[in-house]
Amino acid sequence: MSQLLIDGGTVLNGEVRASGAKNATLPILAATLLADETVVIQNVPHLHDVTTTIELLGHLGATVTVGDGQAVEVDPSTIHSQVAPYELVSRMRASILVLGPLLAKYGECEVSLPGGCAIGSRPVDLHIQGLRKMGADIRVENGYVHAKCKRLQGTRLVLETVTVTGTENLMMAATLAEGTTIIENAAREPEIVDLANCLNAMGAKVTGAGSSELVIEGVERLHGAEYSVMGDRIETGTFLVGAAITGGKVTVRDADARWLDATLVKLQEAGGKIESGSGFITLDMAGKRPLAVNIHTAPHPAFPTDMQAQFVALNAVADGVATVTENIFENRFMHVPEMQRMGANIKIEGNTAIVRGVEKLNAAQVMATDLRASASLVLAALVADGQTAVSHIHHIDRGYDCIEEKLGSLGAKIQRISGSEAG
Ligand code: UD1
Repeated sequence: MSQLLIDGGTVLNGEVRASGAKNATLPILAATLLADETVVIQNVPHLHDVTTTIELLGHLGATVTVGDGQAVEVDPSTIHSQVAPYELVSRMRASILVLGPLLAKYGECEVSLPGGCAIGSRPVDLHIQGLRKMGADIRVENGYVHAKCKRLQGTRLVLETVTVTGTENLMMAATLAEGTTIIENAAREPEIVDLANCLNAMGAKVTGAGSSELVIEGVERLHGAEYSVMGDRIETGTFLVGAAITGGKVTVRDADARWLDATLVKLQEAGGKIESGSGFITLDMAGKRPLAVNIHTAPHPAFPTDMQAQFVALNAVADGVATVTENIFENRFMHVPEMQRMGANIKIEGNTAIVRGVEKLNAAQVMATDLRASASLVLAALVADGQTAVSHIHHIDRGYDCIEEKLGSLGAKIQRISGSEAG
């Protein structure tokens, strides 16, 4: 099994480019199923989750061409199956994103239920409820969602909980529905805006993206388009925490400060000097130790759950005591026991981690347990004494494009050793 070996003690300095956003790429790839013609997507990151989605599109019969650079071309006109099997959906929950497009376009589909995942139960009941309200006949049987409809009907949907992929599934389905769909209490993440922009480039009529009320006027068909995915704000935030935790200065390109407001406020509170402009964000820590910062995760534009683990790492070595409260997922502190093995002083009470900053962490053999947890362990390793080995790094490859090259270019001493070398 591959591992990342990180020698702690270097300061991150320099410039790095954010890759295309994972959480925008996955729904945009699913959205190509709605078109009648080829859709070309640019700035697609090299990630395992993207590969899984491409495999799923291929399984459905779409003709997918992966270019040399970061372009992926999807011709959905060759689709011959509307079944998303367990084998692929269980690898990645976001596969559920094909449900809305397949149903809206083909009037019938079978999509495996994603099942549990490490960070919590993550049901898809709101996706199903919304599609039912649009007229779909849905049975959940033998672990599969069996959905059928004539043409979906526009209606007013009020989401009980703010759900990102739920909003995306319903928005995609509504583009081909008859009449107008209004989604209230919609998620407001920048990736929702990116998906809406891509759908509009394909001929959809979506307005209100980025607000909690989406209005989608259904159209008869969607055509081909070319679209470039936004930069990854979570990857950006992770590099900025890397600068803050090591006392360095890092500029992230292809980043937009408006996508990261709550995160940047916290980085400033931690003592970072932030500068941003068209397409870049710089954080300068000027060699200082970060100050402890309290965190409460909540849907966008509040502090993102996908940055929570990285801030636990920052607080683990910060000056002071911080509370980190996770309000989105019930089991998202799996990085804590691993950081404790590195000498972090963290106590969990319910959904809150109380983190007392220590002067130094110590290197240890640690295990990545989910995507963002693994990033937080890499950050912690940057400031640990000695060489940390992070195992189970397939989690990190799901969402971070070339992490060791990118961190290496900023001065980190990090290397990947493959299965046999790792023993
Ligand atoms: C997306 C992101 C993930 C991020 C999360 C929260 C993608 C591919 N993934 O995941 O990186 O951590 O948003 O920002 O974009 N819920 C229900 N019923 C549903 C759907 C959700 O109860 O039908 C609950 C979930 O259990 C959770 C909350 O709603 O407590 C938010 O989850 P949701 O926004 O749906 O997360 P994902 O879209 O899976």
